Amino acid sequence: MKTLIRNIKQLVQVREEGIEKLSGEEMATLPTLSNAWLLINDYKIEGFGGMESIPHIEADVEIDATGKMVLPSWVDSHTHLVYAGNREQEFIDKINGLTYEEIAAKGGGIVNSAKELQQTEEEELFQQSLQRLEQVIKMGTGAIEIKSGYGLTTEAELKMLRVARKLQKRHPITIKTTFLGAHALPKEYKDNKQGYIDLICEEMLPTIAEENLADYIDIFCEQGYFDLKDTEQVLEAGKKYGLRGKIHVNQFNSIGGIKTGVDYHALSVDHLEVMKEEDIEALKGSDTMPVALPSCSLFINIPYSPARKMIDAGLPLALATDYNPGSSPNGNMNLVVSLACIKMGMTPEEAINAATINAAYAMGIQKTHGSITKGKTANLLITDPIPSYGFLPYSFGNNHIDQVILAGRLVK
Ligand code: NIG
Ligand code: FE
Repeated sequence: MKTLIRNIKQLVQVREEGIEKLSGEEMATLPTLSNAWLLINDYKIEGFGGMESIPHIEADVEIDATGKMVLPSWVDSHTHLVYAGNREQEFIDKINGLTYEEIAAKGGGIVNSAKELQQTEEEELFQQSLQRLEQVIKMGTGAIEIKSGYGLTTEAELKMLRVARKLQKRHPITIKTTFLGAHALPKEYKDNKQGYIDLICEEMLPTIAEENLADYIDIFCEQGYFDLKDTEQVLEAGKKYGLRGKIHVNQFNSIGGIKTGVDYHALSVDHLEVMKEEDIEALKGSDTMPVALPSCSLFINIPYSPARKMIDAGLPLALATDYNPGSSPNGNMNLVVSLACIKMGMTPEEAINAATINAAYAMGIQKTHGSITKGKTANLLITDPIPSYGFLPYSFGNNHIDQVILAGRLVK
């Protein structure tokens, strides 16, 4: 099946084959093609060019994009989209003055979501998650990473990952899954953290690997959760099963997790609200992508990741939503791109690069996603008629995604 998009006002993020990620300096540039066409063959981008060179073919589907932008779909490389229920009550606690850490200390937080998820049937969990997935697809997300970590028992962690894999069968959005057994210490292991780490490494991981339920491994490396030694153990165990790390670090404290992640060739280190000089140094020249999560900062009132400092130091940077019930009950990548500009001092070019090509790297799909490149998967978004791509972050909180193409098919 062939789809031809014509009269595109601006085709955005046009890249040669082979570009895998952009360093700080390279992020300043966002290549575009004005007055363009784009041809999709089956599920791939077959070609594109200026309207003067439009091919004379009979396409099965023709789309007129007069006045509109066409971008590669957003890539959301860090989410917890599979969860049960919500944490609206904690939202109220927060309004009444409790901090995120205080709520967790009094039995709320991650273990609260785990309790609810353990009691939720797999089919019900699937339906709740499917609704969120369909919502983010409409907002232009074309690839998404989904973590476990609200199970905290072998059975419930497996349930989460099975649901995430099942979602892939339902929609042509690209999904990668991450095993986050080490998200919080279950109450039963309050005085036996090593016992829980052993359960993760010796029971959960082998079963997950056997059933091919995860692509990556994660741990919440943070004071009061898991320390550096735990992080090393979990990353080491993941390595045995070929699972690279994508780890939660430096959300509230800098305790050396970034260096550990880099030493283990983690694919990404995520959150990074609190960054010391040595954390930035550790990332220089590494193959680990730093990932910022600005909607989490917005929702739980914590500092934003110092993106300017990282980019100016030459580091690449990716952006993601962290969609989850506790710290970011929102999966809107458009909002994330806006927040990056408004609160983190990133330019629209930097923010769009961070939400597409660099985000694809953070998900391990940079060869097939994240840019308008011949041969890449045709996951695209078509905007409303808008003046320029910079209008997307400028017009914050508004929805300008008109149409969505996933694997070459119009889905919105
Ligand atoms: O990425 N910080 C750790 N985990 C999630 C939030 C978990 C929750 O509060 O439910 C995050 O912010
Ligand atoms: Fe997270």
